[in-house]
Amino acid sequence: MLIDPFGRAITYLRISVTDRCNLSCAYCLPESGVKWMPDDLVLTTDEIVRVAQAAARLGIFKIRLTGGEPLVRPDLVAIVRRIKEIPGVTDLSLTTNGMLLEKLSKKLFDAGLDRVNISLDTLDPAKFKKMTRFGDFQKVWNGILAAEAAGLKPIKLNAVVVGGLNEDEIPAMASLSIEHAWHVRFIELMPVANEQGWGNGLPTVSERYISVQKMHAMLEPLKMQSLVIENEVGPERTFKIPGSLGTVGFISPLGEHFCNKCNRLRLTADGWLRSCLLVDKEISLRNALKNGINLESFISQAVSEKPEGHKLKSHNCPEARHMSQIGG
Ligand code: 5AD
Repeated sequence: MLIDPFGRAITYLRISVTDRCNLSCAYCLPESGVKWMPDDLVLTTDEIVRVAQAAARLGIFKIRLTGGEPLVRPDLVAIVRRIKEIPGVTDLSLTTNGMLLEKLSKKLFDAGLDRVNISLDTLDPAKFKKMTRFGDFQKVWNGILAAEAAGLKPIKLNAVVVGGLNEDEIPAMASLSIEHAWHVRFIELMPVANEQGWGNGLPTVSERYISVQKMHAMLEPLKMQSLVIENEVGPERTFKIPGSLGTVGFISPLGEHFCNKCNRLRLTADGWLRSCLLVDKEISLRNALKNGINLESFISQAVSEKPEGHKLKSHNCPEARHMSQIGG
């Protein structure tokens, strides 16, 4: 078992399988776009599987595939199948924008994927297009339904709340959990390499951040009850609207410090291990992968150097990569 210097058990690896995305959400990618990594820098299926195997040997049992947008990677189903075969991996999930889920849900489920988190920031098709620059709300909605029908469970929906853009939709989005067994989660906006302007008609920096306390206040009329989830190690605080099928969650990377519960490592698409989403420190696995060197010592080193927490409050924001290059 991997234990870091602050006593945290590291049991969860997020693997970014590509930095490419078929959307360009305002808070994630600059309007000018970012330069995609050249193909030869992106890890192959075999290399990804080797990292996952080494991680599993060290006690990591939870793996999430992220991007960019993981579903744009042509060999994603094969990656899922091979990771699911690794002894010890008991929870294999994916974070996606949902645009390609209608087509791929069944194949992913059959390959062994357990569940998906789908980013959904608004229920208004026009706003959806504006926030994501190329998105199609209906496609994503169909993708959510397809994922549910395929048996991927539970379905979690992630909404990043952006002041002046989608904050007015918090009650409507939370209410999705009444009739659907979905986990609707509201996430505070994080300032990751995204401090530049967002482009025409989008809010300014000072208007964007909405705290979870403010989100909560907007949901007062729904009379949500707090849920205590046993063995829950994630950063979410979970609530339930009485009589509903699903749940409503809040993730507060800025307001509430949950770093003391962090159990994660991240692998970037170009083969760097990053031990904190919000700190730019990384260790390269590239040389070890190319030369067949044992990966465990590198993974252990990343864990031994994991920062105690992020420093967003003192305005120490990571700048080296965009969110799309880390995978959230
Ligand atoms: N702040 C908060 N959440 C973000 N995500 C992407 N960029 C940001 C940001 N700046 C979310 C996505 C996705 C998850 C991987 O991270 O919406 O749901």
